Amino acid sequence: MTQTIAISNQAGGVGKTTTTINLGGALAKHGHDVLLVDADPQGTLTEGTGFRELYDQKIPSLHQVMVDPTRTNEINDIIQQHSEFDVIPANKAMDALKDMLVTQVANSEMRLKIAIDEIDHGYDYILIDCPPDLSQILDNALLTAEQVLLPVEPTRRSIRAIEKMNEEIAYLTNSFPGQVDAIDILGIVVNSVESVQNNDTKQMIEFFEDSPHEVFQVPERVAIRRAWNNGVSIFEHEDDAKTEDARAAYSEIATMLERHTAEVDA
Ligand SMILES: Nc1ncnc2c1ncn2[C@@H]1O[C@H](COP(=O)(O)OP(=O)(O)O)[C@@H](O)[C@H]1O
Ligand SMILES: [Mg+2]
Repeated sequence: MTQTIAISNQAGGVGKTTTTINLGGALAKHGHDVLLVDADPQGTLTEGTGFRELYDQKIPSLHQVMVDPTRTNEINDIIQQHSEFDVIPANKAMDALKDMLVTQVANSEMRLKIAIDEIDHGYDYILIDCPPDLSQILDNALLTAEQVLLPVEPTRRSIRAIEKMNEEIAYLTNSFPGQVDAIDILGIVVNSVESVQNNDTKQMIEFFEDSPHEVFQVPERVAIRRAWNNGVSIFEHEDDAKTEDARAAYSEIATMLERHTAEVDA
């Protein structure tokens, strides 16, 4: 069975896209068949996986697939092959998607779920990189996945981010009874943790550890940015020694997902 996970936080610059690409790389390294979906109209994941030129072209994208119910099945045509995983890139046409979903589309919160259900290929994992806001696109991603990974920065601002996510999840589960039972936060990914931590960082990590969620820490590493510039995850980037601890961190998250999949399948 396919496990779909939304990588989500309404704040920008906290590591959502970085987590999506490198967790995708870790799952691929573990032998899984993985699809990454760029649901952020800014197209950062599209860029970080080497599909920048598709972002600017006038071609069918998630936009048409989600907005036009007669074109849902075209989701199969917009999947791109990458050396590690498959990718559904974003397109600049998606800038208008948020507003279109609100004003012109029936069943607007379910459009992504309906489209993803049409995918012919049986992926092990689908990771959805979410936009940095509480929009209709995010609701679509949460209702599609029903499982969330929450990347956060180790600062006080993240307390509010976790509250916001819980509020959004409560709103969706109340609004769509029968269509969604529960949306679970599978884990908090504390991103860009510096090797030498100040007191604030330490306190924040303790705060996360006190939450009911599993907590993972990803170190701050230049190699993560370098891999991104090369359009691949750190698992594909040759700079082995410098990425060992970061690889271990993403691998640990992948193992948690595998455990979770085994429980769901049992
Ligand atoms: N662990 C990390 N080490 C080094 N740079 C990082 C790390 N995580 C994120 N970055 C960099 O920080 C910036 C923001 O991260 P990004 O994943 O795009 O955040 P978001 O998707 O939440 O907006 C990017 O330039 C990314 O390369
Ligand atoms: Mg992003």
